[in-house]
Amino acid sequence: MGKKVTRIGVLTSGGDSPGMNAAIRAVVRTGIYHGLEVFGIMRGYQGLIEDDIYKMESRSVANIIQRGGTILKTARCKEFLDADGRKKGYENLKKRDINGLVIIGGDGSFRGAVQFSQEFDIPCIGIAGTIDKDICGTDFTIGFDTAVNTAVEAIDKIRDTMDAHDRIFIIEVMGRDAGYIALHSGIATGAENILIPERKTDIHDIITSLLEKERRKKLVNLIVVAEGEDSGGANKVQEILKEKLPNAEIRVCILGHIQRGGSPSCLDRLIASRMGFHAVESLIEGRHNVFVGILNNKMHYIPLESAVKNKGTISEEWMKIVKILAS
Ligand code: F6P
Repeated sequence: MGKKVTRIGVLTSGGDSPGMNAAIRAVVRTGIYHGLEVFGIMRGYQGLIEDDIYKMESRSVANIIQRGGTILKTARCKEFLDADGRKKGYENLKKRDINGLVIIGGDGSFRGAVQFSQEFDIPCIGIAGTIDKDICGTDFTIGFDTAVNTAVEAIDKIRDTMDAHDRIFIIEVMGRDAGYIALHSGIATGAENILIPERKTDIHDIITSLLEKERRKKLVNLIVVAEGEDSGGANKVQEILKEKLPNAEIRVCILGHIQRGGSPSCLDRLIASRMGFHAVESLIEGRHNVFVGILNNKMHYIPLESAVKNKGTISEEWMKIVKILAS
């Protein structure tokens, strides 16, 4: 058991994700409910280092549960990778007697928290907030559901025009290291091919199947590509396909950051509220250096370190479904 937690800080770090505001709200209000003082740290680890920290009240988080982005703002902070930067951050917490920290972010943010907690006596609790869903040990990460639904809505619209013109469309979704957005949105929109970083892209296989479809006059084909897939993304795939399929009309659409914005879905608001609540409860109970995950609808506390080291795996069953349903 560590020291009793009395004053906590909360920050959002890395790429923002819809639902982060709902998580901040839950942390602030649960903390205040338990008699803790809660401090908001602006722009993630950057604000921690620069002492951009302010006291939050229950009203500070009014009317934000439905808003995308993050009221605390966020950053990818290089300075926190250095021991000097982390020390500055620690001193800023120490001078306010902040003795617990909630970090809402993805694997990069958790990596920072692991280093910080190894060096200083501040218990850290992570909340998985990333649209990429690339954190092992939880069925959900805040923002994924909203992002994937944004992608589905956009792809459905593209399908209308794609169908009207008998075209091949290559749609790039986010996911530098993880293919979950591509896989989920691709299956949900009936994509013929889904290219993800976790699998080697077999471009020859795609060309063969497109040529075969051309022969039987199936000219409408949807290819969903995660930005981190290994042939180089949608533009590169288009270049290769154009060369081999000179008669085909091939268009590209890169969905980009629209996937990160917008009002969070009901699911994201719910998981954010539950995770925020349990993050504070677990700090009070004396847990440290874990993140709050949900597995089979139950809360789990997973060492921050293991989230950092492990990536989730894509099941073969899903890949088989893509192949069979696309025929
Ligand atoms: O946070 C996840 C993510 O959206 C990735 O899917 C994407 O590769 C990256 O962030 C983009 O980051 P940035 O907004 O810094 O360009």
